[in-house]
Amino acid sequence: MYLQKLKLTNFRNYENLELEFNNNVNVFVGDNAHGKTNILESIYVSAITKSYRTGKDIECISFEKEFFRNVHTYIDESNKDKKIEVEVFLDTSNKKQIKEDNLKVNRYSDFIGKIPIVVFSPDNMNIVKGSPNNRRKFLDILISQISKKYVISLQEYNKLIKLKNDVLKLEKEKIDFTYLDIIDEQIAEKIEYISTKRYEYVDKVEKEAVKIQKELSKGDEILNLKYISEFENKNKEEVLNILLKSRENDIFRKTSNKTIAHDDFLVFVNNKEVNKYGSQGQNRTALLALKLAEFEILKEIKATIPLILLDDVFSELDKGRINYLIEYLKDYQVFITTTEVDSIDKVEDKTIFKVKNGTVEKLKN
Ligand SMILES: Nc1ncnc2c1ncn2[C@@H]1O[C@H](COP(=O)(O)OP(=O)(O)O)[C@@H](O)[C@H]1O
Ligand SMILES: [Mg+2]
Repeated sequence: MYLQKLKLTNFRNYENLELEFNNNVNVFVGDNAHGKTNILESIYVSAITKSYRTGKDIECISFEKEFFRNVHTYIDESNKDKKIEVEVFLDTSNKKQIKEDNLKVNRYSDFIGKIPIVVFSPDNMNIVKGSPNNRRKFLDILISQISKKYVISLQEYNKLIKLKNDVLKLEKEKIDFTYLDIIDEQIAEKIEYISTKRYEYVDKVEKEAVKIQKELSKGDEILNLKYISEFENKNKEEVLNILLKSRENDIFRKTSNKTIAHDDFLVFVNNKEVNKYGSQGQNRTALLALKLAEFEILKEIKATIPLILLDDVFSELDKGRINYLIEYLKDYQVFITTTEVDSIDKVEDKTIFKVKNGTVEKLKN
């Protein structure tokens, strides 16, 4: 997919902004806090329907305004006549509305994945260095862009866990065990499916990431990933058994103790967990490898080129890794924010946008 143009209304520090892009490298240059990331954020919101920097999308509405409305127009590279116009509207009561070609999208699961996207941002270091929920989120966003069933399963799983926890909060005498059995059975089914998918995708990510880690380290570093879960290789019946065994403890603690919320994947470089034993360079390489693996997997399975957002990553990376990344992505549509235009000297085909205090001016290459 290519992003051809965008139109923002009341989004962050843009009351009205209209831009057109080229199919290659688009660079937003400007000092800090002038609105570069806000533009990338709007692109991400139009693809995933949520921001990557805040859990509260309402923060994206311009100060003192009642709503934002963005329209992003995409073109399918395999069929240049086919455009997809995505409109995202959100108001201060947190009512969100997505339209695709002017038709209301009823379910998030019907939309996500239409515009495959990969974002690199400084926060991404958490995928390697941070807590397990960062890694689960990485997997969930990747798989959600590919499998509608996965999106629905996750949503249903979360609902079921909430139902279960509501029951567990009751006095023991008031608990309806037949009802709890029904919920557990459904949870077991979701866990089996979600875990199987996550194992499958950790394997896919590893297969791609190992190549990139090797290249970036000139053959010195071998990357491995290992998904860890209580429910490894368990079918529905076995998952249900684990849930049932935990029931007494659940009732005592008034919450579900066996959930997929403890699942994680470990990243090894040369057989050592990289976040514990690796150098800063190895950790950065591992992150790049995971992110580029995400790009490769989406590209292959979706059979279209994902959009790439590079938010301020050059301040985090050294010259060698920057050049590798630029070389890797040079034939794709990329959106870059940077304070220093020097960092992308090497890119030939690029459009530069100067961002200053919420105004954006297209400069010559
Ligand atoms: N909801 C909002 N309404 C208006 N301005 C906002 C909103 N949220 C953030 N901003 C402004 O956006 C600017 C930061 O934009 P950002 O894109 O993150 O900057 P950078 O150019 O450093 O990437 C700040 O000036 C901030 O005050
Ligand atoms: Mg920024």
